Amino acid sequence: MKLARQELKDLMKHKLMQAGLREDHAEQTAEILTWSHERGYASHGAVRVEYYCERIAKGGITVDPKFTWNETGPCSGILDGDNGVGYVVATEGMKKAIEMAKKNGVAVVGMKNMSHSGSIGYYSEMAAKENMVAITFCQSDPMAVPYGGTEPYYGTNPISFAAPTADDRLVVFDMATTVQAWGKILDRRSKGESIPADWAVDEKGAPVTNPHLVNALVPIAGAKGYGLMMMVDVFSGVLLGVPFGKHVSSMYHDLSEGRCLGQMHIVINPERFVGLDAFKKSMSQVCDELGAMTPAEGHSKVYYPGERAIIRRDKSYAEGGIEVVDELVDYLKGDAIHFNRYDHKNRFAD
Ligand code: NAI
Repeated sequence: MKLARQELKDLMKHKLMQAGLREDHAEQTAEILTWSHERGYASHGAVRVEYYCERIAKGGITVDPKFTWNETGPCSGILDGDNGVGYVVATEGMKKAIEMAKKNGVAVVGMKNMSHSGSIGYYSEMAAKENMVAITFCQSDPMAVPYGGTEPYYGTNPISFAAPTADDRLVVFDMATTVQAWGKILDRRSKGESIPADWAVDEKGAPVTNPHLVNALVPIAGAKGYGLMMMVDVFSGVLLGVPFGKHVSSMYHDLSEGRCLGQMHIVINPERFVGLDAFKKSMSQVCDELGAMTPAEGHSKVYYPGERAIIRRDKSYAEGGIEVVDELVDYLKGDAIHFNRYDHKNRFAD
């Protein structure tokens, strides 16, 4: 079913409030979920609401958190989110980082004790909209083997980078450091289809094509992706003093407990380097030159990171709205807050 942006956002906000989230936090969470869903990241859109509602209802997200801001230097600080909803903690952390980078040139802001913050490209884009360059990293629950290993140690640990241009384009690179998300394995299971051999491994660390035999996901690009995944955890976990590596809490284990996750934003003011106007002009040139390149066979164009997400968003509105599966709309419109489906103590949702 196709929904208008405001309709989808209002439905998600209402459901989160039904579960107990306060209005301003529900508003911000619904805004970011809509941002993801309209860009085609359906895995980080409306489908997540039921899980959040179950965690909120069971007490695993603090509904009236007391945030503590510790400015540890002119360019650094840590925001303790009191295990409030991750979307709000990450947004508040980015506001602090932007303010600090505008004033002092650079900001390195950590957030600790937060829950899942969804598509992290939203936060780096916030900085690009304010003429800053940003990187953000966050932890997620262990479900990927280190290169050459047999046990899940790191999460899908995403990285996002964003930068402004001299026109209305924003470069927003936003990716997980695993080849595929767990949701894609579930999708193949439900369809009775096999998976490509480079997506996941079994209990011996060997590649699997049977989705039912998956024990862990694998990093992108072998040892290189493993290094990136570790780096994300060092920045957003080890450096902030929150649980790291395999000690990061599972999304689906004990929904009554706060997750104590970490995230890190690094924001750079281009004025302190090449200068804002020169930077933006060069970024526009980069995007123009990439877009003008003759595409390889099988490709229609060379896109800059984030371009296809904007094309998907604009196409969905041109075609009558954001596509949301009917069952999800029924849930959002219905009375049930959740169906007790996620608190199953397994590492993975199934
Ligand atoms: P993806 O594989 O769809 O895209 C990754 C990046 O590659 C994007 O920046 C995209 O613009 C770029 N890209 C893709 N195809 C391209 C093409 N043909 N030309 C140029 N650029 C292209 O994203 P992925 O890795 O599946 O992540 C999806 C979302 O999941 C992200 O928003 C991420 O932040 C989120 N995520 C969140 C986690 C969390 O714990 N909070 C964990 C893992 C992922």
